[in-house]
Amino acid sequence: MKRILLFLSALAVFSCAQPQPQAFQVIPMPADVAVSDGSFCVKGAAVHFEDDLDEASMAAVLRFVEAVETATGTQCKWDEGGMTFRVNPSLAAEQYAINITPKSVTVEASALNGFVYACETLKQMLPAAIYGKEAVKADWVLPCVNILDQPRFAYRGMHLDPCRHFFTIEETKRYLDVMTAYKLNRFHWHLTEDQGWRMEVKKYPRLTEVGAWRNGTMIGKDWGSNDGIRYGGFYTQEEMKEIVDYAAKRGITVIPEIDLPGHMVAALAAYPELGCTGGPYEVWTRWGVAPDILCAGNEQIYTFLEDVLTEVMEIFPSEYIHIGGDEAFNESEGIPWEHCPKCAAKMRQLGIKKGPMAKHYLQNYVTARIQDFLNAHGRKIIGWDEILEGELAEGATVMSWRGVEGGIKAAAKGFDAIMTPSSHLYFDYYQSHERDKEPLGIGGFLPIEKVYSYEPFDGLVPGSEKHILGVQANLWTEYIPTPEHLEYMLLPRMCALSEIQWCAADKKDFARFNESLDHAFAIFDAMGLNYSLDCRGQIGLDRQPARTPEELAQLEKPAW
Ligand code: ACM
Ligand code: ZN
Repeated sequence: MKRILLFLSALAVFSCAQPQPQAFQVIPMPADVAVSDGSFCVKGAAVHFEDDLDEASMAAVLRFVEAVETATGTQCKWDEGGMTFRVNPSLAAEQYAINITPKSVTVEASALNGFVYACETLKQMLPAAIYGKEAVKADWVLPCVNILDQPRFAYRGMHLDPCRHFFTIEETKRYLDVMTAYKLNRFHWHLTEDQGWRMEVKKYPRLTEVGAWRNGTMIGKDWGSNDGIRYGGFYTQEEMKEIVDYAAKRGITVIPEIDLPGHMVAALAAYPELGCTGGPYEVWTRWGVAPDILCAGNEQIYTFLEDVLTEVMEIFPSEYIHIGGDEAFNESEGIPWEHCPKCAAKMRQLGIKKGPMAKHYLQNYVTARIQDFLNAHGRKIIGWDEILEGELAEGATVMSWRGVEGGIKAAAKGFDAIMTPSSHLYFDYYQSHERDKEPLGIGGFLPIEKVYSYEPFDGLVPGSEKHILGVQANLWTEYIPTPEHLEYMLLPRMCALSEIQWCAADKKDFARFNESLDHAFAIFDAMGLNYSLDCRGQIGLDRQPARTPEELAQLEKPAW
């Protein structure tokens, strides 16, 4: 009997057997799925483009076909009668349809994003080794299924802070790869900070000669310490264009952030004349909110910002540019604008009266000038929810981070908003209560169930839902010095984020999602990504058994 079972399971592993339909394990769960009996074998299958797919869509499909060829160790044939990729103009840009029978796979989309997402869904229905770099013997079949799928939100973002700790272009591409696998479409790249300026700006070379480097970093959570090791790095304009291009091919728009008027100490260290006191300033070596900010009363800062943003626009085609706006004022360490003759003169000129709101109105002025400049160049601003304090000019989009209130208020006032509440979507928070076993987090407690439970429309004034463009999680890196640690904080929580962003509220189901995570873990293994198993009770960075591609293929066939 045992021998017969072994024989049968070997058959299942090494040939195109017909698995029984079970729970369907794609994340984010597609909108409409109807699984039927039977399966289609992709190994050596014929592939065919019908109609004129544009170049980018064809390239996306080719990446999928290459992955099939690599993982199965068998070339596909360019011929009709197998997998057909077809343009269907009646579908929306991010929508796709998949029909699989025992004899054919038909994929339809109208644009790049639809084809990218269709291919990602196909990959998730195959053994996780499809994400690897080696040929593997496995059950290389797709289930017979009909899928029609589209996202709930147009803006599906993930943020990265490469300033507190620096992540290379290759590491950033891996971040984009895993975003692609879960159908995210906005990469918010936070390029400037008190602790390091990361973007090459040709007109202001000292921003990277001086501003990209700090004289040490505080050690762990010891605020009085400094490791004395010079730390930094920056991206050349060519490298940033490479990221924009890499992301665009995967349907992801890169939204750069130049944070202003606060979080600017690295720039002040390079050009001290832009600050209220004239400095000298040093690139910050500790975390927190630096009191020194750009001098709103000095006309030079507007020239500086316009010059920087001109180069930003040359690199980043995104309609939206993020202009920060958060944490401009450090109440406990002093607010330079309140002691600066130039800022006082500017407030008089603008008719801003003394009082607790004065600094907010002055910040409104800075925001509005930059907004006018970007609008004149066909771009729009996003700012953190502090930009809502005082008076915000029409057309700005508010990123709600200090909770949901900023987004709710913005939407009620008719501003577009993106929800990134720290309560549910700050991935620098701990995932377990056993902090001594965890790699460092900034604080808090954000297990995957809590991420998953977030509902972006909760609390909105009825009728203002249309202003919620979407949802994003943020990953600040004060305590995250390595890519392994970064991935541990990101994964699998980003999978939960993807279902908030993609799935209709009534399609979300934590029990189903949680079961699907085992296949996601196998995908991360195949991609060579680190991840947290906190939700499976294994806490910490050192807990992972390395799996071989063969083990992966056998252990982690998705259920469908
Ligand atoms: C923020 O977390 N300071 C936007
Ligand atoms: Zn000033």
